[in-house]
Amino acid sequence: MASSDFALFMGQLLRKPHQVVALAPSSAGLCAEMVAELDPDGGPVIELGAGTGNITRAILGTGLPAEQCHSIEMNPEFCDRLRENFPGLNVHRMSAGDCGDLEVADVQAVISGLPLLSMPTQLQRDILTGFARKVRPGGDYVQFTYGPKPPVTKIVREELNLTWRKSDKIWWNMPPARVYRFRQAG
Ligand SMILES: C[S@@+](CC[C@H](N)C(=O)[O-])C[C@H]1O[C@@H](n2cnc3c(N)ncnc32)[C@H](O)[C@@H]1O
Repeated sequence: MASSDFALFMGQLLRKPHQVVALAPSSAGLCAEMVAELDPDGGPVIELGAGTGNITRAILGTGLPAEQCHSIEMNPEFCDRLRENFPGLNVHRMSAGDCGDLEVADVQAVISGLPLLSMPTQLQRDILTGFARKVRPGGDYVQFTYGPKPPVTKIVREELNLTWRKSDKIWWNMPPARVYRFRQAG
């Protein structure tokens, strides 16, 4: 990660702590786990809360063409940086709650760097309903969390009939994190 990206991240963290909600950008180990099951020839991917692009870089590092990646970010400074750093990437300045309206179909997975647990239930519901609309059958919603519980609240998991798998703890992250993969049953 370039030092200017790190400085931008920390500056926005100070200005908008309730949106950024992370002590630092995701580590290389966490990013690798987030993208471990992506297929570079498997079609479109939606990324939520791209920030300065650490997970974006890992998504494109799988070999997925930039044109196949749709990165949603609500912070305008982060959007400008994503456009500079990743030519060809589809950068959408919007709320992740509207991801169901994106003009992309047959999505293989949604990769989320959002601070989901700190979001109100209705916003979580909008995000996960959008995921269910866009992803193909068997596609995952991939989300990291620093906490001990699944990062999607129980009521939304039950409404959407979500099952999940979780990774081992990734210690080399600040703070240590786990990756959850949610999927609609049936
Ligand atoms: C924890 S940071 C993660 C940044 C980066 N993906 C990473 O892992 O290093 C969360 C990001 O989500 C963005 N964000 C927060 N709420 C959002 C929302 N409702 N819609 C879109 N982006 C949002 C923030 O602006 C921030 O860039």
